[in-house]
Amino acid sequence: MTKVTLTVNGRTVSGDCEDRTLLVQFIRENLALTGTHVGCDTTQCGACVVHMDGKSVKSCSILAVQASGSTITTIEGLAGSGELHPVQAAFKEHHGLQCGFCTPGMVMAAVDMIDRHGGNLDEATVRRELEGNICRCTGYHNIVKAILAANAEMSNSRQAAE
Ligand code: FES
Ligand code: FES
Repeated sequence: MTKVTLTVNGRTVSGDCEDRTLLVQFIRENLALTGTHVGCDTTQCGACVVHMDGKSVKSCSILAVQASGSTITTIEGLAGSGELHPVQAAFKEHHGLQCGFCTPGMVMAAVDMIDRHGGNLDEATVRRELEGNICRCTGYHNIVKAILAANAEMSNSRQAAE
C-alpha cells in the first residue's frame, strides 16, 4: 500500500491504496465522491473527467500514486456557495442532459474548454473537443448549445469585471 495525498475540492486528503489503483477509483472509493463516473475505464468515454492542477484529465487513465501531490477538482467542487456553476446552469437551462451519466465528465471538460478558449470558442471547436466525451442519450446538440451559452455568459461576466 502507498500513501496518496491530494488536495481535492480545496481540502487536503490522504489515504492508502495499492499502486495499481486508478485515480477515479481513489476518488470514488476512498473519498466517496461518486459524482465522477466510470463508463469504460479504457480512456474512451470521458465520464471520469476531473481537473488535475487546473486541466481536464480522464481520471481512469492516471494512477492515484501518480496524482499524489496534485490539486484535483471534481464535479462536487465546482459549484460555489450553493449556486450552480454557469456551465451546470447552462446544461440545466438548455436540456444538455437526459440520463445524466455522462454529465459530470461533460461539464468538467466544458469548463476546461471555456477556460482555454475564452471568447474564441465556436461550435466547431466545441464539437471537436468533445470527441473524448461520449453521450448515449442527447445526440450532443443541446450539450453543444449549453457549452456555447455558458461560454457567452462567462465571457460577459469577465468583461464586466475588467
Ligand atoms: Fe474514463 Fe471512460 S471511464 S474515459
Ligand atoms: Fe445519458 Fe449523456 S445524458 S449518456
